[in-house]
Amino acid sequence: MNFQLTEEQEMLRAMTREFAEGEIAPIAAKMDEACAIPDQLRKKLRDQNFFSLLIPEEYGGAGIDNVAYAVVLEELSRASAAVAITVSVHNSVGAAPIQLFGTEAQKKKWLPLLAREYLGAFALTEPGSGSDAAALITRADRDGDAYVLNGSKTMITNGAFADLFLVMARTSVEQKHRGITAFLIERNTPGLRIGNAIHKMGLLASDTTELIFEDCRVAVENRLGDEGHGFKVAMQALDGGRIGVAAQALGIAQASMDAAARYAKERSQFGKPIAEFQAIQWMIADMATEIDAARLLTLRAAWLKDSGLPCGPQASMAKLLASRMARVAADYAVQIHGGYGYTKEFAVERYYRDAKVTELYEGTSEIQRIVIAGSILHPKDRKTSK
Ligand code: CAA
Repeated sequence: MNFQLTEEQEMLRAMTREFAEGEIAPIAAKMDEACAIPDQLRKKLRDQNFFSLLIPEEYGGAGIDNVAYAVVLEELSRASAAVAITVSVHNSVGAAPIQLFGTEAQKKKWLPLLAREYLGAFALTEPGSGSDAAALITRADRDGDAYVLNGSKTMITNGAFADLFLVMARTSVEQKHRGITAFLIERNTPGLRIGNAIHKMGLLASDTTELIFEDCRVAVENRLGDEGHGFKVAMQALDGGRIGVAAQALGIAQASMDAAARYAKERSQFGKPIAEFQAIQWMIADMATEIDAARLLTLRAAWLKDSGLPCGPQASMAKLLASRMARVAADYAVQIHGGYGYTKEFAVERYYRDAKVTELYEGTSEIQRIVIAGSILHPKDRKTSK
């Protein structure tokens, strides 16, 4: 067993850290306040290949492995969790499913576009179907050489800026999950409207919107996978996405611990730095231990994916642990900052708000437990794809 990253993975970590500390961290608070990522930063992310990370080289991408990808996301998230999720949704649940389920023609058409120009998004959730994703009701009715979509989606990360949406819609009402089909739908398709922005507790710079489909005609060639296979497309996409969210949570937790340790050494009370009090030391020790545990689980899930081994339950374990750990680490960081931690003067206030969503999106912690328990109580031999 080797716990060391390769030279290339270490190099990617160092390069991403340099970029994140130079270009993202200095404006992270401003982005949070403005509830937006500036176009200029989006362009820099594009130029530095962050939107092509998982796309294979033959389709114009960087083609890095999943371990390196997790490392990169952690580093981005350490500077801004909002930037990390923008990159993660694009790569993990926007582009990767095309690589997994697309025909050669679809890969040749969409992957190079996603690598160099398009932003991707994933549209599964609806107002009435969140955790019970297979209960979605957006309709896709076949009409000649097209499908006609009607319905709405919500909680769509990247919704305001995405150029391509991976949309799950119902092609049969008789069957629950087997009646769902996946479609690739371009932003400018008539009948697709970007709905209201959703105002959130944290992750403010990452945009989240509704999507509305009104007689939206989508050519049959834009169907991803077979009719009725959309639920599997979504679930496999989420296996990868959950590794991304675990890495995002790690970044928030690491930033929280770094800030807490720095502050504890600077802040004096009762005649000495508060870092000398055992109460503070224990919080730091717990943060360090749990960050390490979550990082090991996250990299293990990524490694399984790289090895073509089943990784769904392991991705869920990584997300379950990392997200809870991030919430607690951010809480400790605020606690160590005392009253100042509750003000906008210190970044830990943002970490605290940002951490919570990692327990909610791409499957709540309760859903991760369903996946994990299911793998033990009713094991299925599921193949995975890199
Ligand atoms: N890979 C491949 N196939 C899978 C799979 C996986 N990981 N998980 C399930 N399946 C298959 C099963 O094998 C089964 O197939 P067959 O019966 O056809 O053989 C089928 O899918 C149904 O499986 P289940 O009976 O387990 O399905 P279920 O309806 O009970 O749901 C669930 C399972 C795990 C609860 C699932 O609904 C789920 O993950 N829910 C949460 C949804 C979610 O994460 N939403 C987040 C959306 S994205 C987001 O947050 C916003 C954003 O932009 C980031």
